[in-house]
Amino acid sequence: MSQYTITLLPGDGIGPEVTEAAVKVVEATGLAVTWERHLAGIDAVAAGKGTLPTETLDSIRKNRIALKGPITTPVGKGFRSVNVGLRKALDLYVSLRPVRSLLGVETRHREVDLVVFRENTEGLYSGREHEVVPGVCEALKIITRDASRRIAKYAFEYARWTGRRKIAIAHKASIMRLSDGLFLDAAREVARDYPFIEWMEIPIDRLAMQLVQEPRHFDVLLMENLCGDIFSDLCAGLVGGLGVVPGANIGDHGAVFEAVHGSAPDIAGQNKANPIAVIRSAAMMLAHIGEHVAAQRIEVGIERVLSASRVRTRDLGGTATTSELTQAIVDSLPTPAELAR
Ligand code: NAI
Repeated sequence: MSQYTITLLPGDGIGPEVTEAAVKVVEATGLAVTWERHLAGIDAVAAGKGTLPTETLDSIRKNRIALKGPITTPVGKGFRSVNVGLRKALDLYVSLRPVRSLLGVETRHREVDLVVFRENTEGLYSGREHEVVPGVCEALKIITRDASRRIAKYAFEYARWTGRRKIAIAHKASIMRLSDGLFLDAAREVARDYPFIEWMEIPIDRLAMQLVQEPRHFDVLLMENLCGDIFSDLCAGLVGGLGVVPGANIGDHGAVFEAVHGSAPDIAGQNKANPIAVIRSAAMMLAHIGEHVAAQRIEVGIERVLSASRVRTRDLGGTATTSELTQAIVDSLPTPAELAR
C-alpha cells in the first residue's frame, strides 16, 4: 500500500475542527497518511514565526500536497492575507471549485453541476494598493497574458479530460478594456487550440443574473481572480451554501486543497461547523494523488448521510454537531467492493 506524507494547515476559527474531521474521514478509508502539521496566520504570529513560516512553505514544497483550513485575514488593518501570500509563494495559479447539487440537500435549483476556474495570482485581488494622498487610494489591477493563458489552458485541458461540454469565459471588457480585454483575448487564443470544446464569452454581470435564474445552462466557468472569489460564493449558494463546496489551489509544483468558506468566527470552537466542504476538499486531494476509489467512497459516504439520515449541521437545517456529522460519514463509507457494484 502507498504511504503518503501530506502537509496539514489546520488554520484558525473553525479550521481546526473541520480539518480534524477531514483527517478522521481520510484515515477511515484505510489510507496510510503521515500528516505534517504546520502553522500559518494568527497562530503562527502568536508563536513568533511570522504569518507564513518558512517551515510551512518548505513542508508543502517537499510534499507537494497540502490540506488547509481557513485562515482569518484582519479587515482593513493588521497583516495581509496569508491565503493570497500562500498562493503567490507557491505559484498556485489555478483555483478549481466544483459546485454540484448533492443528494439530500434541498435547494431551489436541482442538478447544478458547475466548475469554477479562477485565476489565482493576479488582478485586483492581489491587494496591490496604496494611499495616493489622504482621502484618495489607488488599487492596481495587473493582468498579464502569460497568467491569463495558463489558467485558460488549465481550464480547457480539464474540460478535455473530464468530458465537460462548454466553457464560459466571464469578463467586463466593455469597461476594463485593457485588463479584462487582455484576459479575454488570451483565453480566446487558448480556446482556438480546442476546436472540439464549445466556448462562449459572457459579461460578468450578465453571468450573475443568468446563474441565479438558470445555473444548468452553464458548465465550466473561467474568470479572473476577484470575480472568481465572488462567484465561488454565489455558486456555493446555489447548492446548499459554503458548508458543502470544496476547492483546490493548484500549481505546477504542488497543490493545496481547501474549502471555499472562511474561518467563520461566529461559530468557531462551538462544534457547529459543517465539515463537509473540507472533507470533500480532502476527497479532491485524494483523487489528485490517484486515490480515486478512496475519493469516491468519501463522496458516496457524504451523500448517503445527507440523503438517508437526519444527521446534518445547522447550516443545512439540522441540529447535529461537527463531530456527529463526521462520525456519521465515517460510518457510511461504502467498502471498495460496494462501490464497484
Ligand atoms: P466565512 O466563509 O468564514 O463565513 C460566512 C458565513 O458562512 C458565516 O455566517 C459562517 O458562519 C458561515 N459558514 C462558513 N463556513 C461554514 C461551515 N463550514 N459550516 C457552517 N457555516 C459556515 O466568511 P467571512 O465571515 O467573510 O470570513 C471570515 C474570515 O475568513 C475572514 O477573516 C476572511 O478573510 C477569512 N477567509 C478565509 C478564507 C481562506 O482561508 N481560504 C476564505 C474566505 C474567507
